Formats: sequence, C-alpha cells, structure tokens
Amino acid sequence: MTVRPARNVRGRVRLPGDKSISHRYAMLAGIAEGPSRIENYSTGADCASTLGCMRALGVAWERNDNDKDGAIEVKGSGLALAAPAVALDCGNSGSTMRMLSGIVAGQNFSSEMIGDESLSRRPMERVITPLSAMGAQIASQAGKPPLRITGGALKAIDYTMPVASAQVKSCLLFAGLFADGETRIIEPLRTRDHGEVALRAFGAKLDRRSSGQGNEIIIRGGQRLRGIEARIPGDLSSAAFFLCAAALFPGSQLTVPGLLMNPTRARLLDMLMLMGLRISVTQLDEIHGELVGSLQVEGAGLKGATIAGADSAALIDEIPVLAAIAPYTEQGIEVRDARELRVKESDRIAAVAANLRLMGAQVEEREDGLKIPGRQPLHGAELDAFGDHRIAMAFAVAALRAKGETLIRGAESAAISYPAFFQTLEAVTER
Ligand code: S3P
Repeated sequence: MTVRPARNVRGRVRLPGDKSISHRYAMLAGIAEGPSRIENYSTGADCASTLGCMRALGVAWERNDNDKDGAIEVKGSGLALAAPAVALDCGNSGSTMRMLSGIVAGQNFSSEMIGDESLSRRPMERVITPLSAMGAQIASQAGKPPLRITGGALKAIDYTMPVASAQVKSCLLFAGLFADGETRIIEPLRTRDHGEVALRAFGAKLDRRSSGQGNEIIIRGGQRLRGIEARIPGDLSSAAFFLCAAALFPGSQLTVPGLLMNPTRARLLDMLMLMGLRISVTQLDEIHGELVGSLQVEGAGLKGATIAGADSAALIDEIPVLAAIAPYTEQGIEVRDARELRVKESDRIAAVAANLRLMGAQVEEREDGLKIPGRQPLHGAELDAFGDHRIAMAFAVAALRAKGETLIRGAESAAISYPAFFQTLEAVTER
C-alpha cells in the first residue's frame, strides 16, 4: 500500500463494532440459552476466527452480509458444547485462543487450539497456569501454541494475575462459570472490563470490588446465561488511527458517531486531549452496560506525552500509533512499563523503532518502551508491517505528514481488525 502525504483530515467515520466486545459476545452467545442477535459485529478477521471456532464447537450462527447492521444471529448451545471434529483455528487472534481456552477447559472433551505463525510464538502460560490449577489438563509447546486442552469439572480458585491482561481475566471468569464454587480474580492493574460487563449483559451475576491489592472480581459457577439482542459500539482502538490522523493537522475536523466510550478504554481520549486535540462528546448512551458516545474532534497544536505505569496497560493497543506520530509532536513521546508490547502480534517496540528510523527519525529503543524526541520531520520510506495490523495502520497515519510517499509492505494485515481501514482513511484525507 502506498500512502501519500495529506493536507488535512476532514469527515465522518463510523467504526465497525469493537473487537474486544465482539469476541466476548460471540463466545457468550454460544454458551447462552436461546438466540442472540448481535448488530455491528466486528468485520475483522480475528473476530471471524472466534465465530469459526464456535461453529466447530457445535454453535449454529448466521451472518447476513446484506444486513446493513452487520448482524449475526447465534443459536446458543447452553454451557455444554459439542466436541470439535477439527482443531480450533484461532488464526492470528490471541484473544480467541486465550479467552476460548477458559470455555473449552470446562467441557467434557479434549480440543486442540492452533494459530498462525505469529500466534504460535505468543505466550500462553498466563492461561495454562491458572486453568491447570482449576483442574484442566493442558499440553503446549513449552508454553506456546498449539494447545491441547482436556476439560472437565473445574474447581474454583483465588488467583492474583501476575500480568495485567484482560484476555486472561476474561478467560478465568468464563472458566469460573464451569467451576464448583466462587472463583476470585485479583488484578493489580485495572484492565478493560468488557468480560465482566458482557457476563452481566448475558445474565450472570458477579461481584466487583476494589481492595488494597487491586481490582477484585468474583463469579459463582453453574450460572446459566441467556441470549441477548445487542448493538456493538464502534471500535475505539480502530478510531485511534483516525483521531491521531486528525491530531496531525491543525484545523482538521472529524465526526465519530456511535463510538465505544468504556472508561477502561477511554484513556486514549484523555491522552489526546492532553496533547492538544479538541474532543467534545455530543451524545452519550449506555447499551448493555457499555457506554457509547458521539465525538466531534478538531486538530490544534500537538504537544508531547509520557506514557507509563497504569497508562501503559490502559493504552496498550494505542501506543503504536501514538509512538508513530511522536516525531510530529512538540516535546516527543516517552513510553515506559510497556514490555507487553514485545509479545503482541509482532514485537511492537522493535517494529515502531525500525519504521520510524527508516522515515528518518531518531529513536531510543528500550526493553520496556521507547523515547522519541519531537520536532523531527519525517520522509516517506519503504516500511514493513511485520504482519501486524496495528503497525500497518499506525504507519499509514505517520505517512500522512511525511515528505514524499510511503510504501507499507504487508499492509493487508490491517484486515485482522479493520478490513476497510485504507478506504476509510482515503475518504477523510484531503490532498
Ligand atoms: C484485549 C486485551 C489486550 C489487548 C488485545 C485485546 C482484550 O491484550 O492488547 O488487543 O480484548 O481483552 P492483553 O490481555 O494481552 O493485555
């Protein structure tokens, strides 16, 4: 994909449904009783991987491509799924493998979970250790996929998560549905709470409280879920690319209707406002416990930022694009405490550093982050997406203010979360 520099960003962007919520709704609709109808389901390949795995586990669903709401209709199987005849193919999706492992761990059969080359390199001990403590038998390749999970009756555990991960938290809450007694999960750093919110939407009861140790969630086993009718709010992490594109141009204007505004995700909006982007919320509603709002955005100057501590966990998916626009800021951007970026779809710290350098920037790469000085003009270059959707989209945004054209190899990986990304970007850029 070749991206040419732009003069301005202006228009209206309606985002496909949030990826995190789409995965969770597809899984919970599958183990609920009765039908669910889910509108604005994510168009990304990752969420299609989740649907494919649910079908392999005997869940019937249909997606009508002519339906303007992108709705899927799911016929829930109840808590007991069917033994799959084939391996569960999670594709590129860590969310699918990690969260679904919590559901298959509670089934009376064995299943194999496989993934593509990138997923096969990603750490899975973070789910293997607690699920094994609950009684599941799991074989892996030294903590990496493929996983062979032999499930059965699980026992409830008390578990303090060593890594801040919403995927692990959701995995264990889902497994908790199949456990005898109360599963208690403590997260020292708050992560996105879509698992908790979705479980409640499907009728489960859970308790949440904050203690000195962090955020605590308790779920009782044996609860039955019931199907829902829902509309998934627009994906905030996909919106991040357009918001950052708007931030690059003083006088830019964007309208973003129907966007997810969940407080555990919305740190991005605070950060961009601190950096100088003007954002006003023109409407705010709640659907099934998730906040959804409409934004009016206007670009002004672009100040720098430091992203560290709890912010690094809260912004983990948006750091690549924030780092990619760092050279255009006044004071630059420093990212710390973000070692997790090294084990995403690619090593995102190394990928950002490599591409920024190819565009002429000076970058200090650190084990747990990056320091990128501001006021550095970039030039177009030949870049690599490293097979990573967020790297492809982050550098399409950086290219908008570079001198000359930028070629992004492997840009098709954007389809993992957002197949229409490049068309939509083209539609809102002025040249
Ligand atoms: C996600 C959690 C995050 C995030 C991923 C989606 C989720 O991963 O990076 O894109 O939906 O729970 P971790 O759980 O590994 O932090």
